Amino acid sequence: MKVFFKTYGCQMNIHDSEIMKGLLKEAGHEIVDEIKDSDLVVINTCAVRGKSENKVYSLIGRLKKAGHKVGVTGCVAQGMPEKLSNYGVEFILGTRSISSIVNAVEGLKKIDLEDHILDINSQTPALRDQKKHAWINIIAGCDKFCTYCIVPYTRGRELSRPISDILNEVNLLAKDGYKQITFLGQNVDSYGKDLKDGTSLAKLLELSQAIDGIERLWFLTSYPSDISFDLIRVVGNYPKISKNFHIPAQSGSDRILKKMNRRYTKKEYLEIVEKIKKEVENSSIGGDIIVGFPGESDEDFEETLDLVKKVRYIRLNVAPYSPRPGTVAAKYYKDDVPFNVKKARMSRLNEIQHSIEKELNEVLINKEVEIMIEKTTGKISYGRTIDNRMVAVEGFIPEGEMVKVRIEDFKSGTLYASNGRVSIFA
Ligand code: SAH
Ligand code: SF4
Ligand code: F3S
Repeated sequence: MKVFFKTYGCQMNIHDSEIMKGLLKEAGHEIVDEIKDSDLVVINTCAVRGKSENKVYSLIGRLKKAGHKVGVTGCVAQGMPEKLSNYGVEFILGTRSISSIVNAVEGLKKIDLEDHILDINSQTPALRDQKKHAWINIIAGCDKFCTYCIVPYTRGRELSRPISDILNEVNLLAKDGYKQITFLGQNVDSYGKDLKDGTSLAKLLELSQAIDGIERLWFLTSYPSDISFDLIRVVGNYPKISKNFHIPAQSGSDRILKKMNRRYTKKEYLEIVEKIKKEVENSSIGGDIIVGFPGESDEDFEETLDLVKKVRYIRLNVAPYSPRPGTVAAKYYKDDVPFNVKKARMSRLNEIQHSIEKELNEVLINKEVEIMIEKTTGKISYGRTIDNRMVAVEGFIPEGEMVKVRIEDFKSGTLYASNGRVSIFA
């Protein structure tokens, strides 16, 4: 069978697609790059907002109309299987049943929403998109139940992979020439807690950075109040570990944070950020904010603006609140902030964020930074600094190469550099 994948959502979903592709290839199927060459399209879906979910239905509609066979996996499959079955899709696989992909593609399974997550380990094949940078899911699920969020319903309870299996995967990847690894979890700081054997993200990073061939390690996403001092210390101590913490705040208002069931106050959040800035040289902070959560007043939003100005994020994702079926917020709180107010708050926040990014990046102009190349078009190559700034460099530089470049310009989220010869950006 020739299979085309369309993947939506977070890095975890991207990696799940890589695993499904690997399993299919191993079973003798072919993964194709164009829909027109395929016998079947697999849509790996995201349900985090209404917009992400609706994209899936409209794509299915278009594909079915054009006569394609469609299978659905991921968070919409797990969360809204009844709705999907009305679309006449070939199969529906949940987030913890990706190991059933071969049976599903071969027509032997129509629906699987069971938990077979333990089928996936370091021996499972993965067809990775990149050759030098690899994603590894280290903890599945989420137990936090933020009142707006569908993820705990679509990804299930937290389950950490044994540290020995993850280290085995890191070793195998290093032998395959991979130089960068990103450890993934909805709550990556919770990694190991359920194993009750002293395993932690700090320990995993410390052991992984010592593996031959590994040059950079990243971790995503951190839950503010779960970041341990041990983790901050390890990040500060080892040069191969990224200095970037992605710590979504979601809001700066204590009243809204409480309604969201986020387990920290604005003050506590800022204290964590301060601790990181103090202990980790050249650290950077990334984050997510939801605007227009039910009941969010102008004063609440001012608190968010104030938090964003104080933290000075290197990157910030801003999303308008979207009620998700089955969540506490959708059931009990009215979505009462009008869409134009949400939009205005998003613009205001983005405007402030852009000026902060500009300030944080302009200080690098004429300075030399070290980046590891992650992709190249031949004419321009892209890499990231250890604190997660995206740099575009003129010319072809092979993936995985660590280069020193001089920053010349900054435009919409990307730094531009020459590689020491001539610059096409000057
Ligand atoms: N585990 C991560 C994020 C998971 S979802 C964390 O704890 O932060 C990714 C982002 O989507 C969230 O950070 C949040 O900003 C956004 N998001 C989640 N549910 C949402 C909703 N119902 N409406 C709008 N944005 C939402
Ligand atoms: Fe969703 Fe909250 Fe879990 Fe993040 S921590 S995945 S926002 S419930
Ligand atoms: Fe989306 Fe599911 Fe990831 S809802 S953000 S694909 S965990």
